[in-house]
Amino acid sequence: MQQARTEIASAVAPIIDRWKNEEGPLLPILNGIQRELGHVPRESLPFIAEALNLTRAEVYGVVSFYHDYREKPAGRHVLKLCRAEACQSMGGDAVAEKLQKLLGIKFHETSADGAVTLEPVYCLGLCACAPSAMLDGEVIGRLDEARAVEIAAEVRV
Ligand code: FES
Repeated sequence: MQQARTEIASAVAPIIDRWKNEEGPLLPILNGIQRELGHVPRESLPFIAEALNLTRAEVYGVVSFYHDYREKPAGRHVLKLCRAEACQSMGGDAVAEKLQKLLGIKFHETSADGAVTLEPVYCLGLCACAPSAMLDGEVIGRLDEARAVEIAAEVRV
């Protein structure tokens, strides 16, 4: 535990140092940590808070407000399903239900085999092809249950 804390401290220190004296440093620091570690570990929050003279609760509030920050490392694949209105009105809920069942996880979870992380996203700018998703950075439109089955198989590879 102490070793993990020390490793996190040394991983985040250069990122904090790089941004702490800039204007509006919190988001660039969080972005940098997520880029470097693939997530923003909770153990990193005290270091950020101390460097920026914020409370831990203030830092945590920002981390939890933005859906893109992950507290744990993602799976090998990241599947983002659009949960915004246009996609919901075109059957997005049914597809989301289906995918959660097929993958055996809920939103914000990673499958036990580390294959896939499922995340909600709020509009991918692909409303005309709703319901939409993004798999490992590639957008997918006109999702239906058949495509959901294919996606669930693809992420297991
Ligand atoms: S609402 Fe889903 S892509 Fe815009």
